[in-house]
Parts: sequence; structure tokens; C-alpha cells
Amino acid sequence: MPDDSPLLKSLRAAIDAAPDDVPLRLHFAELLLGQERQQEAIAQLAAALQREPGNTEAQTLMGRAVTPAVAPQVTVPPPAVSQESAPASAHAPAPGGSGPYDWRRAEDELSAVVPPRFVRSAPEETAAAGAEQSPEGPLPAHDLPTGPHDDDASSPWDVESGTLALADVGGMHEVKERLEAAFLAPMRNPELRRLYGKSLGGGLLMYGPPGCGKTYIARAVAGELGARFMSVSISDVLDMWMGNSERNLRQLFETARRNAPCVLFLDELDALGAKRSQIRHTGMRTTVNQLLTELDGVSGSADDGVFVLAATNHPWDVDTALRRPGRLDRMLLVLPPDQPAREAILRHHLKDRPVAGIDLAKLAKRTDGFSGADLKHLCESAAERALMDSVRTGEARMIGMGDFTAALGQVRPSTGPWFASARNVAQFANEGGAYDELLVYLKKRKML
Ligand SMILES: Nc1ncnc2c1ncn2[C@@H]1O[C@H](COP(=O)(O)OP(=O)(O)O)[C@@H](O)[C@H]1O
Ligand SMILES: [Mg+2]
Repeated sequence: MPDDSPLLKSLRAAIDAAPDDVPLRLHFAELLLGQERQQEAIAQLAAALQREPGNTEAQTLMGRAVTPAVAPQVTVPPPAVSQESAPASAHAPAPGGSGPYDWRRAEDELSAVVPPRFVRSAPEETAAAGAEQSPEGPLPAHDLPTGPHDDDASSPWDVESGTLALADVGGMHEVKERLEAAFLAPMRNPELRRLYGKSLGGGLLMYGPPGCGKTYIARAVAGELGARFMSVSISDVLDMWMGNSERNLRQLFETARRNAPCVLFLDELDALGAKRSQIRHTGMRTTVNQLLTELDGVSGSADDGVFVLAATNHPWDVDTALRRPGRLDRMLLVLPPDQPAREAILRHHLKDRPVAGIDLAKLAKRTDGFSGADLKHLCESAAERALMDSVRTGEARMIGMGDFTAALGQVRPSTGPWFASARNVAQFANEGGAYDELLVYLKKRKML
């Protein structure tokens, strides 16, 4: 350990005298960081966070302390082709989306006639959008367990290799920062894990309107950690037969452990709470308890290498036992994409289409409040319009800004209803300040 300056010395003494003084520790940690003494800073920040887990300054400093020096713990070489760029999914019709006609294919054919072109390019986004390989949105990444007899070795739960990175997530800097500080940094850093022990295992619960990137972000987190990825919807775990849901859960976590390091993404977590109140006697309590046991098991030994992330569109329906400390105790609000994110998403959806004179920045500005899914729909509508014209006139025409202007007249942001119900909860049932983040956003957007 390098020699302390008089200032550091006296601060250290002060901390010894008042170990619970968090601001003092943060100040000390910052000075240590200034001297590139990361490990010591981390210890101080860990102590601060133990006392005040929600302290954002401590989280930010921790992010700084851990980020530059460390690489992902384990590196799984990415497969040559991501499962999402497989031809089968590239041309699959969007679920519930466009009709039977294969617009994508038709557009591809048109694109041979004239190459794609944007009016203005934002170079830093190109790489991010180009690396994204998920034109259809996340596909359900699992098969259902088919029957009650499932004790064989091959697990019905699908495991992916993480190939996305946080850099593939356009914009959303606050979310990334919080993920880095609250989840990634501690997961990567063994020193921290040791200091935190069990409490570190607590998972993160992402919430927000549908189609805004929760699943996508979870996949990126797996990529960042060099971990495998399992995405499972809770409703697919549930089974009407007594005992089957619990067995499904057990098997799910077993598979995750076998595939460690692995990010286990539990989607639609509210399915447990909601169903429970509807059907009182189906043993949903047992299922919740089984999940609690599994969660506790994972957090009891961080070396397991199983990282649990969960998501819900309705956090207010999530069983409260699941949100207790050490379990899915931290909430992360995933809002509709901000402007840079929208630009990245639009670029991604247009990159293989015959476009001309598209001003992405302008489109991004005009699509405030659109979810990722809405943006995809917008691009499809614009493409459809140009294609109809081309078919009618027999002359290939590019997708232009005019098509987007027309499409913008039809496609509306779908996030409105979500905010309407979220607003009430945030205002009137904000227990423990769980929805503070949401309130800030609503106020900023004058939605309160
Ligand atoms: N920040 C972003 N950057 C790039 N693409 C995004 C972003 N947010 C959302 N998307 C796109 O929108 C799609 C829908 O997001 P998804 O993760 O399915 O939302 P959710 O799980 O919240 O319902 C994703 O497949 C992704 O292609
Ligand atoms: Mg999702």
C-alpha cells in the first residue's frame, strides 16, 4: 500500500472513528481513485454501499473504480454466427405483425436495384447498430417443457451464448451506468464479491413499458459478462399440475448452474403474483417459495456464476417476497429509448432496406415516446408504402422521407397506456420510494 499523504492519513483516522459516515468514505474513496488506488477505493466504496445501497454517488464512484482495470471474468468466444442472424429468423414474419406477404424478401430484392443510402450519417452509431443482430426482437429463447416426465439429462431450457454487448444498446446512458455500477462491476470483481458476500447475490428487477429493451439489455449484460444467456418467461415455468412448476424451476436453475457463468433472465415475473391472487388454491405459494429457495441458493454462493436478472411490465404485481433484500431487491426502470437510442434502432431496421434521403436524426426527434417495437413498426409501414407504389407502377422506388411522414401519421407510440397505469402506482403506492425514478421521469415529461 502506498504511503498516505497527511490528508489521507487524517481521513483514514476519521473513518476509523466514524465508520458509518458515508460522505466521508466517499470523499476518501474519491481521493484514492485520484491516486489510482482502485482496490482500496473499492473497499471503501463497498463499505459505503453496505451502509447505503442506494447511494448513487457511491454507485457511480464504484463504477469508476472497477471499470477501467478489469476485463470480463470469463471469455466465451462468440460463435461465428449469432443465433439471431440465422436465415430462418431473418425472414420469419414478426409475431402478430405484417401479413403473409414476405415484405422483407421483396425489399431485399429491391435493394439489389439501388443501394441503401442515408442523408446524414452518425458514425459512432453505425458500429453499434451494425453489430445488432436482432431484426425480429428477441425470440422466445426456450422450448416449453413438454410433459410431466422430464427427469432426463437433456434440459428443455435453451441456453444462448452472449454475443451482444452494452455497446450494442443505443443511447440509454443512465440505464447503462446503473447496470455497470449496480450489477456488472460487482459481478466482475472478486474482491467486491468477497466483501459483500451473500448480499451481492441480490438480483436486479427491470421494469418499464413493453418493447423498450428489457430483454435486449439482459442479453447485452450476459455478453458483457462473457456469460451464457437463458431467457425464460415465468408463465412458461408455471404448470397447472401440482409440483410441476416447482420442478420446472429447479430444473431451470440447475441448467443455469451447469452452464455457468450464466445470466438467467426471468421475464414476466409478475405472472407469479397475478396468478396467485386469481387462483388461490393452486399452490402458487409453493411455486413462489421454490423460486425464493432457488434465488437464495444462487445468492448464497456468488461463485456459482449464476446471475439472475428479472423483468416485468407490472412491477406492482410482483410478489413482494421476491423483492425482499438479497433477492430481486433492486429496481431498474427501462424507459422508452431516448433520441440516440431511437436513431440506433431506426438505423438498424433500415440498414438492409432500400432507403434514400433518410434523415435519421430528424426521424429520431420526431419519434419521442416510441418504443423499440413501435420504431420497428414505423419502418415496416414506411417500407410497405414504398413497396406498394413500386408494385403499382412497376418501377422500383426507394423508401423516402415522404413514406416516413405518412407512416408517422399512422403509427402512434404504444407506451401511453403503460404510463397511465404506472402513474397511479407511482403517485399513490410508492412504497419505500420504489418508483422514485419513474416519478422523476413523469414530472420531467409533464405527465403528472
Ligand atoms: N436501446 C436500444 N438499442 C437498440 N435496440 C433496441 C434498444 N431498445 C430496444 N431495442 C430494440 O427493440 C426491440 C424490443 O425490445 P425488447 O427487449 O424486446 O423490449 P422489452 O423486453 O422491454 O419488451 C429489441 O429487440 C431491440 O431490437
Ligand atoms: Mg421482453
